[in-house]
Amino acid sequence: MKLRHLLSTDDLDPDAIERLFAVARAAEPVARRRKVCRALEGAVLGNLFFEASTRTRMSFAAAFCRLGGAVCDTTGFTFSSMAKGESIHDTSRVISGYVDVLVVRHPERGAVAQFAQATHVPVINGGDGPGEHPSQALLDLYTLGNEFSRLGRRIDGAHVALIGDLKYGRTVHSLVKLLSLYRGLRFTLIAPPGLEMPAGLCELAARRGHHIDTRSSLRQPLHDLDLAYATRIQRERFTGEQTAGYTPEFRVDKAFLDTCCGPQTVLMHPLPRDSAPDANDLGTDLDSDPRTAIFRQSDSGVAVRMALFATLLGVERQLQRPLADATWRRPRRLGPSDAPFYTLDD
Ligand code: CP
Repeated sequence: MKLRHLLSTDDLDPDAIERLFAVARAAEPVARRRKVCRALEGAVLGNLFFEASTRTRMSFAAAFCRLGGAVCDTTGFTFSSMAKGESIHDTSRVISGYVDVLVVRHPERGAVAQFAQATHVPVINGGDGPGEHPSQALLDLYTLGNEFSRLGRRIDGAHVALIGDLKYGRTVHSLVKLLSLYRGLRFTLIAPPGLEMPAGLCELAARRGHHIDTRSSLRQPLHDLDLAYATRIQRERFTGEQTAGYTPEFRVDKAFLDTCCGPQTVLMHPLPRDSAPDANDLGTDLDSDPRTAIFRQSDSGVAVRMALFATLLGVERQLQRPLADATWRRPRRLGPSDAPFYTLDD
């Protein structure tokens, strides 16, 4: 499979994913600031974000810069000529005259595919409304592979709980598709009433031989859980849904970890989490628990997105050659809550 754009996880098969992850592993010393790579020197990324973002926008930009490229970006509609009525087609075609690859986030499902139809430069979907977020699913899978490998586990046969807004959470839509490429998974889908996983995605996983259990409460016991993946309630996408069922019991916190998860359960969340005191999202009391992989997950975004750029632009082999050492001073560890086993020297 030759990757031309990345619009959906449907663009990926197991071989393509393994090749991308091999490139991401080769990119790690650059992503971790030990080595320097200039493979994309002279290339320009168009980073177009018509919706709010911290991780996706910044890590795509950082990945491109760490490959030696430069970044042009625009955020929101206000400072784009779309505010004057310009079409997606014209915007995409015009910007293609300036840059070598586009990353686009847009509030409407399918809009990023429209950008791709108007250009011959590669386009990466940075999130299209409630549709998909394929690069997030790739970095989630890459992180999970790293965590499971450390624990001596395999993704085949794993018990995975997806928790939260499974209707509008595009990260879980993409992740279910990627995990369904493996064998014999048990999915427990836990969502407040009205925010369940779309039926088509449940059917896809079932067709591929996975077991699906659906629940509307986090109170029922969960046995032998290998991955708990929580996601934020996407209120900004609601079209009249009620949040009455989104009660404090949906809060994924240390008590949840201690009662529902085993010592080797991996806990992930794509972030951002809602940290308001009355939010029922991921608590902060579990940040320093070694099972919590949320910052290892966000850190993986740089290596995985470097792999995407290198592959789409045909320079992946340059990451496998000897690279120059980075010379600037860097911390040994990135944040105070990082588990002790996770350092920049790993
Ligand atoms: N996970 C994620 O997509 O985060 P941002 O919205 O900050 O990009």
